[in-house]
Formats: sequence, structure tokens, C-alpha cells
Amino acid sequence: MSTADYHAWTVTAVTLAQQAGELARQKLAAPLERTSKGFRDLVTNADLAAQMLITSAIQQQYPHHAFLAEENDTTLPSTGSVHWVIDPIDGTSNFSRQLPIFCTSIAAVHNDQVVAAAIYDPMRQELFQATLGQPSLLNNQPIRVNNNTDLATSMSACDWSRDANNRTTMHKIHASLIHKVTNIRAFGSATLSLAWIAAGRLDFYFNPRLSPWDFAAAQLILTNAGGTLTTWNNDTPSLSSPCRILASNNHFHATLLSEFAPYC
Ligand code: 2AM
Ligand code: CA
Repeated sequence: MSTADYHAWTVTAVTLAQQAGELARQKLAAPLERTSKGFRDLVTNADLAAQMLITSAIQQQYPHHAFLAEENDTTLPSTGSVHWVIDPIDGTSNFSRQLPIFCTSIAAVHNDQVVAAAIYDPMRQELFQATLGQPSLLNNQPIRVNNNTDLATSMSACDWSRDANNRTTMHKIHASLIHKVTNIRAFGSATLSLAWIAAGRLDFYFNPRLSPWDFAAAQLILTNAGGTLTTWNNDTPSLSSPCRILASNNHFHATLLSEFAPYC
């Protein structure tokens, strides 16, 4: 595999993220079919249609590639030297209530690293993309994390997990952290929050349990924009299982890791 392959995969990711995001936007106003996947966990007909659009196009273009996609599809191959990590709609709970904060996320993984990534926000028509070793782009313009180093003026985001234990952990973290910062938002789309750090809009983000499809594309986009994304232990997050995630403009990372250390 060469840099040219990585660029070609970014083009694929960009095209399909835009198409799937647009499909989701069009379905936003139509009556949704919602199904519960588990406790506090929804899937809609739009998630399934958007995922099918993405996976069928990739299978046609790259028949030997594999998949890790949020919505269960046993027909998809799961092993291969290249795999695509896909969240057709990140922020499904928002989407299902017509809250306009959601996006499509697509990443290509080769040799255990993300090499091509696209995130599309159809409500703001914002396209974030990156290729390994290249600057991150927002609507084709280079982006960079901000230079804020002062926690007292920081604007961050988090999301509340579904399960009770992680909510209790988040409560404890908020009890201390909320007094040290300007504010902590909970937008309901982990992927968009991470992309917004890459664009310099937010300073940091934390979540007690993200799956690879929630952060894979954002990881490359944030890193190539100068940011840092690790586990709460400062490890490289696994691209195959859920992790506690801390992402920042890099400047806050060391300080925040000590805030999170008691909860690792
Ligand atoms: P999703 O919408 O694709 O499910 C807020 O819930 C954000 O965290 C969303 O981006 C959501 O992704 C993600 N998330 C991932 N795992 C979660 C979990 N266990 N509980 C709640 N949200 C989760
Ligand atoms: Ca999703």
C-alpha cells in the first residue's frame, strides 16, 4: 500500500460520508422507524440505510477490504489487511429527536493505524478530512487546534454514557472539573465534538466509553491538526474495542490526565 492508496481511500471516505450524511438529513423530517438496540440505545431506519449506502459502495470498489461498522451486519467481512471503521450516524439520539447535531464518520485502517478519514456534518455542510501525514481540512481549508493553555478559560465537551457506573464516574469528574473551567458542554455527538477540537472551537473532550467507530476518523483528523487523543491512561486507544477517551488541543493533555487518573 502506498500514499496514493491512502489518498484514494480518503476520496472514497469523503464521497460516501457526504452521501450518507445527506441521506440522513433528508430522512430527518420524515417519520422515523426507531428500534431499541439495548438500554438507552436506539437505531433508526436512517442509520441502517446510511450504513448500507457506505458499505455497499466500499464493497464494490474494494472487494477484499473488511469492516467494523456500528450497525450489526453479519454479511460484512470482518478481517482483512485494510478495514473500514464506520458510524453511519454519530449522534443517533439527537437525530431521532430532530436535534441537529449528528454526523457521518468513515475511517480506513491499515497496519493498525487510521490512514484516511472523513466526517460530514450535513446540517452545517461541514466536511472534515485527513490522510496520514497530511494536514487536516475543513471544507478544503487547513485547520489547527487552538493555543489555549488556561484551564479557567477552557470550553470543553463530554458525553454521558448509557450505563449507570459510567454516569456515576462522570458525575464525580464533573464535581471537581466544572469549578476549574469556563464550561463543559454535552452535545451528543462524540465525533463532532472531536472534530470541533481539531478546528480550534473546543479545547478538550472526554468520554468514559467510546467505540472505535465513534473516534477512529476523528483521531486522525485531530492528530493531524495538532491535537492529542488517548485513553484516560495515556495509552493509544484500541481500534477494536471500547475505551475511555480523552482528547485535547494537546496543551491541556498532561493536566487533564492527572484529573482522570483516579478513574482509570
Ligand atoms: P452514537 O450516537 O453513534 O451511539 C453521545 O451519546 C455520544 O457518545 C454519541 O456520539 C454516541 O454515539 C456516543 N456513545 C458511544 N458509546 C456510548 C455509550 N455507551 N453510551 C452513550 N453514548 C455513547
Ligand atoms: Ca451511530
